[in-house]
Amino acid sequence: MIRARITATGSYVPDTVITNHDLEKIVDTSDQWIVERTGIKERRIAGASQASSDLAYAAAQKALKQAHLKPKDIDLVIVATCTPDMAFPSTACFLQDRLGIKHTGAFDINAACSGFVYGLHLASSLIRTEAHRRILLVGTEVLSRVTDWQDRATCVLFGDGAGAVVLEGTKERRGIMSTRIQADGGLGELIMLPGGGTRTPCSKQMLLKKMQFIKMKGNETFKVAVRTLEEIAARTIEDNGIDPSQLSLLIPHQANLRIIQATAKRLNLPEEKVFVNIEKYGNTSAASVPIALDEAVRAGRVKDGDHILLEAFGGGLTWASALLKW
Ligand code: COA
Repeated sequence: MIRARITATGSYVPDTVITNHDLEKIVDTSDQWIVERTGIKERRIAGASQASSDLAYAAAQKALKQAHLKPKDIDLVIVATCTPDMAFPSTACFLQDRLGIKHTGAFDINAACSGFVYGLHLASSLIRTEAHRRILLVGTEVLSRVTDWQDRATCVLFGDGAGAVVLEGTKERRGIMSTRIQADGGLGELIMLPGGGTRTPCSKQMLLKKMQFIKMKGNETFKVAVRTLEEIAARTIEDNGIDPSQLSLLIPHQANLRIIQATAKRLNLPEEKVFVNIEKYGNTSAASVPIALDEAVRAGRVKDGDHILLEAFGGGLTWASALLKW
């Protein structure tokens, strides 16, 4: 049996740092409020000339270098993003061209913040069925362009970045052991970017209503996130016939430290088994899990044979998980 295995990781965040103190100067908020409610201290913001595919390119190059692969070795490019360069061509097509990869398939998937873990579900299935041999999967976002910098309830939360992985087939009993994806479209209104699509196309009226920005009912989203993530995490562990104590590391979506702690508590995981970098980057949506995974790998926190649980939650609503044996 062939399984998909992550053989390399890479990530990129823009240089510009916006601290909570910087935000205190533009909206009615405080460093203390943001840290206590979210765990975020600062976030990165893309430069004016940087779009999602530019961040994706930087992350992908690092992953390809770590894998000792040339772009031509890749046979499929998938990009998870809810902030694409434009509606079409897809961000994956821009990335493919920039990397100089020719004639492979390339497409985007959008499951908002769950996009990367949804992408793992898809890529893993494509490798298991031997439809593809080597897939480049990237989560990339420039959320700063769709953030209302006058709305204190959302502008303190988000940041920009990209994370990439290379997935290859293996006959060993390791790699992506199982995945779960779920959605509840009925709760879509809790977090959405309503303007600019075919429902409410770009117009002066749309811009006046600020519909080009993320709208979120934070508190309700928070409650659903805690409930669904606790459940999907526990189920994914059960699927693999292991006990939570056998997990070496939980790499959660970095949306809110209190959501992360709730999942960790439910699994009875000590702090050192939970990877957290939210203080540096805030919520980077589909880029959050692959950036965290890359940082965990490069910090030596992931070792051969380790059981690692990834989970994410986001707009849709969507949520997803993956259990890896490294
Ligand atoms: N600074 C200071 N006060 C703020 C604030 C800010 N940046 N943002 C909101 N507030 C205020 C609110 O206006 C409210 O004031 P009120 O009580 O006078 O009405 C108060 O703080 C509490 O707001 P509430 O929204 O209930 O806070 P919360 O504890 O739920 O925390 C979030 C808000 C957004 C941090 C939290 O709900 C959250 O993280 N939600 C999930 C986000 C998420 O995961 N989203 C994306 C999915 S990927």
